[in-house]
Amino acid sequence: MEGPGIDEVIYTEEQIRAKVAELAGRITEDYKECTEGSPLLLIGILKGAFIFLADLARQIEVPLEFDFMALSSYGSATKTSGVVRILKDLDTDITGRSMLLVEDIIDTGLTLNYLMGNLRARGPSSLEICAFLNKRVANKVDLPIKYEGFSIPDVFVVGYGLDFAEKYRNLPYVASIK
Ligand code: IMP
Ligand code: MG
Repeated sequence: MEGPGIDEVIYTEEQIRAKVAELAGRITEDYKECTEGSPLLLIGILKGAFIFLADLARQIEVPLEFDFMALSSYGSATKTSGVVRILKDLDTDITGRSMLLVEDIIDTGLTLNYLMGNLRARGPSSLEICAFLNKRVANKVDLPIKYEGFSIPDVFVVGYGLDFAEKYRNLPYVASIK
């Protein structure tokens, strides 16, 4: 067989569903001032966040809009250097907007740290982070993660949007690979 295979399931579909519902409940509560005229803006970081974002957004009960960014980090394929290139920028002018960045996983945190600085400079009225997974022990910067799904050990995981060389994103669960 080519490449690594699935090792063990870390979070099942049911565990993920419960966690997404919990996060969406908190977000609904925290953003209840959002209206049709002043909706929440969810920013999905491509590609990994697309499945989490889709599930999360459908459980948030305040008016919201979507935008997306695609980033690429220079350096090795498996570890981020902190130098980030914007491959796809927002379509939206975010001045004065309530924004929630939705990310699949935070490893070193360097990618989001760069992005937070970049976005803050554009003058949103608020900017928070919602990360499905956080490898806390691998964090190199202290990010203000308001909404965190699961804190995981420093193992490489796939599924629920996360890939290894573009594979496994469609798995409905999160698993480690071997
Ligand atoms: P950071 O800048 O080191 O926090 O890099 C975060 C990015 O690295 C994530 O958005 C993922 O694209 C990727 N990444 C980090 N750890 C994993 C993993 O365990 N599985 C899949 N992708 C990962
Ligand atoms: Mg990513």
